[in-house]
Order: sequence, then structure tokens, then C-alpha cells
Amino acid sequence: MTQSVPQFIPKKLKKQAGLRQLPGDKSISHRAIILASLSENTVTFHHFLMSEDCLNTIQVFRQLGVPIDYSTVDGTVRVKGVGLRGLREPKKSLDVGNSGTSIRLITGILSGQWFNSKITGDASIQKRPMKRIIKPLTDMGAHIVGTCVSENIVPPLLVTGTALNGISYTLPIASAQVKSCLLLAGLFAKGITTIIEPKPTRNHTEIMLKGFGVDIKEVYLEKTGMHITLTPPQHLIYKNNDSKTLKIPSDFSSAAYFIVLALITGMDLTIHDISINPTRSALLTVFEAFGIPQRKVDDIRTVFQGITIRYLGETMGEPFGDIRINTLGLDLQNGTVSKDIIPLVIDEIPILSIYGLFASGELRVDHAAELRVKESDRIKTIVQMITALGGVINETDEGFQLRGNPEHVTPSLVRIDPHFDHRIAMSSIIASLATQTEIQVKDIDCINTSFPHFMEVVDGLIS
Ligand code: S3P
Repeated sequence: MTQSVPQFIPKKLKKQAGLRQLPGDKSISHRAIILASLSENTVTFHHFLMSEDCLNTIQVFRQLGVPIDYSTVDGTVRVKGVGLRGLREPKKSLDVGNSGTSIRLITGILSGQWFNSKITGDASIQKRPMKRIIKPLTDMGAHIVGTCVSENIVPPLLVTGTALNGISYTLPIASAQVKSCLLLAGLFAKGITTIIEPKPTRNHTEIMLKGFGVDIKEVYLEKTGMHITLTPPQHLIYKNNDSKTLKIPSDFSSAAYFIVLALITGMDLTIHDISINPTRSALLTVFEAFGIPQRKVDDIRTVFQGITIRYLGETMGEPFGDIRINTLGLDLQNGTVSKDIIPLVIDEIPILSIYGLFASGELRVDHAAELRVKESDRIKTIVQMITALGGVINETDEGFQLRGNPEHVTPSLVRIDPHFDHRIAMSSIIASLATQTEIQVKDIDCINTSFPHFMEVVDGLIS
């Protein structure tokens, strides 16, 4: 089914706006369910992301015997933890839908159980590479069988639960999902688990494990990177189990669509209460490297031509704050995204390509082969999207080069097929807001994966 996205005309966008309560963070919402399920507590989380991916994680833990209630109306979830050894054998196959985070993290846990299980997902999940977790989990003693497809192994995964041993493992690819899978398996292992991370990736698992009282040590060594050591705990108990304080921060990756919209249209936009964990908000560092000034202030009302960040505090060990984008009249420039920052902005590259279309010079993304194995082959789907929008872009093995043009004019009829990839669909809609062209985006329902109220937020920005 093709749904037409209404025509948005830039002059009808508000000149100044504020966004409050963007959706809860997807990565943190998954981890909240996973760790609370394994804990000794009954934990209530607020501002949980009620999107398809996170609801699938809830469903999986219910099948594993964890009582979980939630309300999509007020965004709260109550998890009655069953303890580290309290999961029970599922009666049928576990289905994660479209969620790569769920399958990778949960397989780490299933590996160390005393029961067998099968875990799978939708058509996209059944193409996603699992050797990256199966290889190190097998080194820990796990028994996992998937389907071999060329060089890789894809779901469904049959997991025979067994005793695991700790491991010392250097991540060959910068992946928070692989790191988190192994740390979670380490909870059930005999002996300590050390993950060596040559390049930083998002650190929500480490932060939340500490919140649940797990002994995690992080040591940074110049030569090898971050060494994360986990000592298997007796049990998980949330240190600060006051339900009022367990508010999941808003997702920076969801804010990124509106940050780019503000940059390319000159809107003065303030995004309130958003995660500013540096392992998630590195897109701002990319913009700074491209010449957009950034300032950290105590009062967000300060008028500054650039990006202003105000730190407000921490929730569940995660920093959050307000971000104001006020760049009307500034020349937007492109540049090369530095190699080391790629893993930290991997989910933002689709929307960064929309920025690139409207900025001067060349946007270069290299060393981003991981994009090929996301919800879609994002190098291909970005190239198709930018080409449909009238941009000039070259695909490379591990990225792309995009020639930007501030005067960019989109062709009169644009049809985009996001290939069921939520981030491509949302990026296309942002492009439609910034141009005077109607854009037809196929199957926009895929947005429900991470941001069910995206179109409502968009509507709030129209004057
Ligand atoms: C995620 C990690 C990232 C990211 C994904 C969520 C997580 O994947 O793309 O959307 O929650 O750990 P990789 O770490 O495999 O790149």
C-alpha cells in the first residue's frame, strides 16, 4: 500500500517552536525490560517507548514467564522481576519482529539458561547477520544453530541453554549490540567477562547494569581502547528503586530528524529533556566539525547563532538536557564524517544525508559498512532516497559521497520506497517538509518501529 504524505510547504512551518516529550529512548527501553526482568525488584518505568520494537521485547519476556503490565496511554511499564535464574522455558518460538537489538541482546541471555529456545523475527531480521554474536557466544560455551547464508548465519536461532564461561573478547566490529549481548551472557557465566572496545559505541548497557548493582569496571587504555569488565553478580537489585525517578530519557535519534529540519529550514527550535549521552548525541559533534558553532549554557533562552545545549541532570544514570537550534542565516557546510565517530552516529546517517542535500560542498561517509546490515541496506536506500530527491550521490563500498546544494530543488514528483526502514521513511518526510514538493513514501507504517507519533510531532510544527 502506498500512502501519500501530505504536501508541506516550508513557509508554513513555524518560525519558532519547542518540542517536549519526544519518545523514550529505544535502546534504553529494551534494556529496561531485559534487566528489570532479571532483577529481584518490581520496577515501574515511565516514558517507556511504546513502539513495535520495544513491545516485542516485552512480549518475549512475558513468554519467558515475566509478569509485565504496561499502559500505552501514560507510557508506564511495570516489570515484576523473576531474578537471574527465574526465566522459564517458552512454549513457542520467540518473535522479535523487526528488532535487531532484541534478538542480539536476548540471545546472549538465552545462551546461559537451563532450557532450550528458538528466537526469530520478521523478513528483515531473518536476513541480519548473527555470526557476530554466535562466534563469541560459542567461545563462551554456548550452543546456537542458525541458517548459513553465504559467509554468515541468520535467524531463526535455536539456542540450547548451557553453562557458560567468562570471556575476554576484542570487538572486531564496533557494535553496542554485540558488546551488550556478551555482557548479558556474562551475567550467567562462570568467571569474569571482559569486552575490549577499540572504538566507543553507545554505553547504555554498562550504565544500566551499574544501576542494577552489577560490578562493571571500565578502563580506557590508549593502545587498545575501553576494557569493560563484568563480574557475575549473585542477583540484580535496582539501587534506586523509586518509581518516580525511573524515567527513561527521550531518544536523541528521534530528535535528530527535527534538529536537521531546523538546520535546513532556519527554524528556531528548542528540544526539551532530550538524552545528551555523548555516545548518542555525537551528531552534534559532526555538525560542529562542519562549522556549526556550539555552546553549552545555563539558560537555554540565550540567543546564540548555532546549537545551544543546557545540561539539566541525570535520569537512570543518563544525562539529559535541552537543545536549541537557531542557525537562520548561517551557511550550512558539508564535510567528511570522521571514522571514529561513525559508530556513534550510525542511526543518524539517513537524516544526515538529508542535511547534506541542503548544505554546500561534499558530504563523505566512509567506513560505514555496518549500514549495509541495518533494517535495510542503508547505503542503497539512502542513495535511492537522495537520487529520488534530485540529489547527486555516489555509492561506495562502505558509504557514499553526496554533492550538496543549498539552492536544492526537488523534482516535482518524488516516490520513495523506504524498504520498510523506519529511519529512511522519517528522513524522507523531513525532506518533504523542507521542499515544496509532495513526496509519496511507501508503507510509512514502518515508522511505528521506533516513533509511532512522528506525524503528530510533525503536525505540531506546521503553523
Ligand atoms: C543499538 C545499537 C546499534 C544501533 C541500533 C540500536 C543498541 O547497533 O544501530 O539501532 O540498542 O544497542 P550496532 O551496535 O549493532 O551498530
